[in-house]
Amino acid sequence: MTGPTETAALATRVRALLEAHWDPARGYCVPNPSTYPHLWLWDSCFHAVIWAHLGDDRAVTELTAVLDGQLAGGLVPHMRYGPEPPDAWLGPLPTSSSLTQPPMFGHAARVLAAHGLTVGPDVLERARRGLDWLWEHRRAPDGLLYIVHPWEAGNDHSPRWDDWGAPGRTAADYDRAARSAWNAARVHDLAFAADGAATWSSSFVVEPAAFNAYVAFNLAELADVLDDDELAGRARELAEASDRLLWDGESALWADLPVVGGGPSARIPISDGVMGALVTGNAGKAHAALDQLTRPDRFGAPAGPANVARRHPSYDPGMYWRGAAWPHLNYLLHLALRRWGRDDEASALAARTREISAASGWAEYWHAETGAPLGAVPQSWTGLALAMDER
Ligand code: GLC
Repeated sequence: MTGPTETAALATRVRALLEAHWDPARGYCVPNPSTYPHLWLWDSCFHAVIWAHLGDDRAVTELTAVLDGQLAGGLVPHMRYGPEPPDAWLGPLPTSSSLTQPPMFGHAARVLAAHGLTVGPDVLERARRGLDWLWEHRRAPDGLLYIVHPWEAGNDHSPRWDDWGAPGRTAADYDRAARSAWNAARVHDLAFAADGAATWSSSFVVEPAAFNAYVAFNLAELADVLDDDELAGRARELAEASDRLLWDGESALWADLPVVGGGPSARIPISDGVMGALVTGNAGKAHAALDQLTRPDRFGAPAGPANVARRHPSYDPGMYWRGAAWPHLNYLLHLALRRWGRDDEASALAARTREISAASGWAEYWHAETGAPLGAVPQSWTGLALAMDER
């Protein structure tokens, strides 16, 4: 159990982390100044959550910066560009990408409200329009939402995308550079609306379990802030559609459903398949999925949860989105554990995340078996350790 002194020390370190990455002219933190010198949608929503826990009203500034990039029709871009354009072509727009990302602005708005920070009605309205856009433009006839590029899911190199032709299937033949090039090439398969929003892809369309859970979760969170029954109803509808269409009884996880391309890899057991526990009303499904976070034959690695089940051939505990542990996923899984009253596990996950986050120098992600730091160091979202309470 962390006492008040330790929490104060942690807050001091997290504040220094965010301060170092804060761009006052643009009003947001970069995830990392050299690896990620732009605004990313879900990163900045997580930064807003961290600022709120620090009692700093830059929480409001950063959430506003996310929604300031909103396109005319309502899509909230997954990236707004910093001073230099990005390396890859991300669509026809000069200052932002045409893709989106998990819309964590609903959750951020709720956390800010809970911390007594005032988010203006215009910003909340933009958040609602962002969720409306997904509902109106990315909902398939089966009632689930789809994405048109792997980057929209947040987990860019997931083994679940393997059957879409991405190079590298197992830990032994995986090649990160080839994989990144494959991802970048997929942008050329997109169709765009008049405002620049990506609407469809000729090669990659999928209804991901985690993305659907994240949207339902953010609908419910924003519904709470706005006291909006329509949004709350959509959240329930989406959670029910996920339970009906995505639940995979064999793995006891929510699986992804391919729409264009893909194959059985969409069911590879990854911890994203637990995220339905954030929103489902079905206790049996939630507990069956959450049980696997600590099971050693599933995601229960020493520095885990691992992002890929440990016995699966594609498991690579040190590889980007192929099995490593991610602090922002830990934060979300911690919320799911709390939601289902699994307080001991939630507190244990919070304690472990706090410990490894600090020991790793605030690494973007870490080796699921050893906790060794990986990716960009330091990374802003790792400050979420502060937002994971140990009760
Ligand atoms: C990587 C991650 C993505 C994140 C971005 C910035 O692309 O896959 O989820 O938003 O980095 O941190």
